[in-house]
Amino acid sequence: MARYKIAWLPGDGIGVDVLNAAKIVLDKIHLDAEYIHGDIGWEFWCKEGDAFPQRTIDLLKNVDAVMFGAITSKPMKAAQTELIPQLQTKGLMYRSPIVRMRQMFDLYNCLRPCKAYPGNPLNFKEGIDLVVFRENTEDLYAGVEFAPPPQELVDILSKISKPFAPFAKLPVDQYAISCKINTKTGSERIVKAAFDFARTFKRKKVTIVHKANVVRASDGLFLEVAKDVAKQYPEIQTDDANIDAMTMWLLKNPFHYDVLVAPNLYGDIISDLCAQMVGGLGFGCSGNIGTKLAVFEPTHGSAPKYAGQYKVNPIATILALKMMLDWLGEAEKSVRLENAVATVIKEGNMRTYDMGGNASTLDMAKAIAEKI
Ligand code: NAI
Ligand code: MG
Repeated sequence: MARYKIAWLPGDGIGVDVLNAAKIVLDKIHLDAEYIHGDIGWEFWCKEGDAFPQRTIDLLKNVDAVMFGAITSKPMKAAQTELIPQLQTKGLMYRSPIVRMRQMFDLYNCLRPCKAYPGNPLNFKEGIDLVVFRENTEDLYAGVEFAPPPQELVDILSKISKPFAPFAKLPVDQYAISCKINTKTGSERIVKAAFDFARTFKRKKVTIVHKANVVRASDGLFLEVAKDVAKQYPEIQTDDANIDAMTMWLLKNPFHYDVLVAPNLYGDIISDLCAQMVGGLGFGCSGNIGTKLAVFEPTHGSAPKYAGQYKVNPIATILALKMMLDWLGEAEKSVRLENAVATVIKEGNMRTYDMGGNASTLDMAKAIAEKI
């Protein structure tokens, strides 16, 4: 029996291209693992009314890690019209599989390393090495949303919230409510993850990102908890910044920052910014990490216009593989893999279209595999 069981979820569009590329690299690294295919994505929504079928959920309960490609998702109305006719009258609601996966398996830590590999023509500046810890289950992504808001909610809010009064005068179909929920436990564990990482890897500073001056209740709680956690790590420098200022300062001087920790939405925004500084979507990798399970993925979507063309850059996915090897405790294989990626980028003979070349997805993967 293989040492590890890995769920293999290519999903839609270029998710398939990049996971096939990742397999080439994995085969070369000889990980003692069994890869089990799982159904996920648009096809299953259209045919079954569920983009994340129960059989895939069951599979994820019995594996050591998951490699996930990407999925296509569409707005609710478009989603409903693409269902097969037998399902169209059932009032099914489309929900993002990746958001469900994060909540269902409590994958609270969205870890996004953003490193500028030397020689990448897409680097904003050489030497950038940022790591973003994004809370992954709470905040505005908690899924507590109302459009239109039910009358009971309108009544309660009218009673207890003065700022709500002008909204309460509007007909309910004229506004929508999304709740931002930050908990103490949720904030504490993501901030701890960031500081533990900083301690283990001898990083100098952790920056807490928030908007506590305006979003006083939920971001206020996050900031307070984070500052408390920071006290347990006196050797690590700590500071905090508002999300808006943070985006500006990151561009102005990325070298002032090291590890960043943020609630869900700000983490999402800031990790895209950081990913763009080190090469963009072809380089952005992500781990959705819980206590029992972790799901690794490139941060890009299914890019339907390139689906099946084997044209896109597989490096984001190959770096996600590296993160998976770290999670499994395969440190030596992880280092070999990262060195191979760095060498191919530095040598500059293999460039996908986004890097200004015309190498295919699989050629890039083969070139990396050869350096392992
Ligand atoms: P996208 O990330 O799929 O693609 C946007 C553009 O970025 C592409 O057209 C391409 O030019 C470039 N790109 C993406 N990945 C690349 C790669 N590996 N190498 C080189 N260039 C790359 O975002 P888009 O077009 O907004 O969304 C397409 C679909 O993907 C939508 O249905 C969206 O909902 C879904 N999506 C899924 C995500 C996921 O599965 N985690 C994340 C983001 C979007
Ligand atoms: Mg995003």
